[in-house]
Amino acid sequence: MAQMYLLVAGVMLCSIPACCLGCNLPWIHCWKSNEIFALLKQMQRIRTPSCLKDRADFKFPWKRENITQIHMTQGLCYHSLMLQQIFNLFTTEDSRAAWNSTLLDKLLSSLDQSLKQLEKMEGDNLDCPDLGHAAQKYFRGIHLYLEDREYSPCAWEVVRVEIKRCLSLI
Ligand SMILES: *[C@@H]1O[C@H](CO)[C@@H](O)[C@H](O)[C@H]1NC(C)=O
Ligand SMILES: *[C@@H]1O[C@H](CO)[C@@H](O)[C@H](O)[C@H]1NC(C)=O
Repeated sequence: MAQMYLLVAGVMLCSIPACCLGCNLPWIHCWKSNEIFALLKQMQRIRTPSCLKDRADFKFPWKRENITQIHMTQGLCYHSLMLQQIFNLFTTEDSRAAWNSTLLDKLLSSLDQSLKQLEKMEGDNLDCPDLGHAAQKYFRGIHLYLEDREYSPCAWEVVRVEIKRCLSLI
């Protein structure tokens, strides 16, 4: 029961995406983040509590206080690299097998539009190797977890919840 509460609290804590407050993203971008978040929510196919046994700690690399700092200094680069990793995760064949393709296509298209907007804004400012390494490690963990669980519906559900959480932190 305690575990269940923890999971639910975790989900609720993350139900509002932050919008990169310190990093001068235009409103359209915030709107896109909310759209991506809403799509991830809609994509749910099975009840999260039925997947308790599949929970995993993916070790998100930063704490909230660090993220505030990152937003102020490397916000665009951070935002763009995280969205790119999320795009890579959901653009796989295994993802297509797991999700409703209408919703998945909308999600990928929103992510793609966001990334293109960021690219336009960033110019040369795309380089944040330290953040990149940490993000790669985090997402590699997620890919390995899915592989390990043979891309089961519950594994994808756990990942969907994790990405929603992650999105609230980018
Ligand atoms: C995260 O923030 C804390 C407090 O500001 C700081 O002590 C720590 O070094 C930061 N960690 C990273 C990885 O930047
Ligand atoms: C996929 O989602 C769309 C939009 O919510 C819905 O209209 C459609 O029936 C769903 N398709 C399947 C196969 O569940």
